[in-house]
Amino acid sequence: MPKKIRLGILGGGGDSLIGVLHRVASHINDNYQITGAVFNPDFKENIGFAEEIDVPTNRIYKDFDTFIEEEMKLPKEERIQVCSVLTPNFLHFPMAKKLLDNGFHVICEKPMTTTLDEAKILQEAHQKAGTIFALTHTYTGYPMVRQMREMIKAGALGKIHKIDARYYQGWINPIIHDKAQRSTVWRLDPKKAGISSCMGDIGVHAFNLIEYTTGLEIKSLLCDFNYLYEDNQMDVDGTVLIRMSDYVKGVIRGSQVATGEENGLAISIYGEKAAFRWEQERPNFLYKMSDTEPTQIYKPGHAYNSELSLDGTKLPAGHPEGIFDSMANIYLGVAKAIRGEAYNDGEYPTMHDGVRGMNFIEATVASHKGGNVWVDME
Ligand SMILES: NC(=O)c1ccc[n+]([C@@H]2O[C@H](COP(=O)([O-])OP(=O)(O)OC[C@H]3O[C@@H](n4cnc5c(N)ncnc54)[C@H](O)[C@@H]3O)[C@@H](O)[C@H]2O)c1
Repeated sequence: MPKKIRLGILGGGGDSLIGVLHRVASHINDNYQITGAVFNPDFKENIGFAEEIDVPTNRIYKDFDTFIEEEMKLPKEERIQVCSVLTPNFLHFPMAKKLLDNGFHVICEKPMTTTLDEAKILQEAHQKAGTIFALTHTYTGYPMVRQMREMIKAGALGKIHKIDARYYQGWINPIIHDKAQRSTVWRLDPKKAGISSCMGDIGVHAFNLIEYTTGLEIKSLLCDFNYLYEDNQMDVDGTVLIRMSDYVKGVIRGSQVATGEENGLAISIYGEKAAFRWEQERPNFLYKMSDTEPTQIYKPGHAYNSELSLDGTKLPAGHPEGIFDSMANIYLGVAKAIRGEAYNDGEYPTMHDGVRGMNFIEATVASHKGGNVWVDME
């Protein structure tokens, strides 16, 4: 077993949503050791949390600049190798940029930045750095999502006609109707979240899932947002018509006010020969539908699955694996890349996905604000 990769964490403290997913995922395949961190901006809380989860406190730093300064003083064999950026969106760009400029590998949460311009600057920094950069579109790590990608690549659906991706949540519903409460949520603050809430936070996952599974790129789109209140600057619901090449059309539906919905990400891809349907809340069932044959259900861990899918399963078929495992599969791909081992390019989303995602988010806002007009993506 090679030595563990030294992992740094920025954000993701005990008060966060996503921190636990990354911490558990990084441990699942025994590849990483959390070596240093700035879990949150309050130094006392930061140290307290490190003690709570048993991370040595000598490399818990008071802020990000100190993290870089102190780590760069250490010899390369001791220095943190890869750092996960798990803060609110507006900190992704300055943190990831400085990490790349100083030669670190980076695992970054989505959306990659808050603007397309920042995303392009980050792309340049990444090209210069030549290190690994991964974007955690978590859902690409599910074995059945990977199976869809490989089967579509092999022609299982034939020519694709129509794609319908939806990501419905309801958690903003109890918050949005109260102006005072609204201002306590960073996802509704453009200074912290960027120009979009619904499309920036979850629509972008649906966008990524479409491009990841089909290998096709969205060329243009038309978006209609709902802000629900005049004084709310951030979309909380939206519908996006999409056009891809070769007469492929579809729709991305996103909502944070879909009452009662939890984490309802789902995709249907209809082709001339067959169709796929997959739902995040039941991730181990991939439905292959046809006009002439009974519906088939693909499940993880069976020899009929592709190598990319099987590589994302650790237990025999019938032992359900879920979102922690999906994120762990992304960390596994990054570990292989850092160690210079062979890996499939579907094992983790890249800088390219990050730039595409920011292009998508900006295009949706431009379309809506331009009067619901068609906007070309770059
Ligand atoms: N991949 C996914 O499916 C997924 C799911 C949820 C969230 N996310 C993304 O993860 C990121 C974090 O989201 P969240 O819901 O965990 O947010 P959160 O508000 O729950 O947690 C943010 C964490 O960052 C810390 N933090 C804030 N400022 C900091 C600073 N200057 N230095 C260090 N730490 C700081 C906070 O203390 C907190 O621990 C967002 O970009 C979000 O879009 C991704």
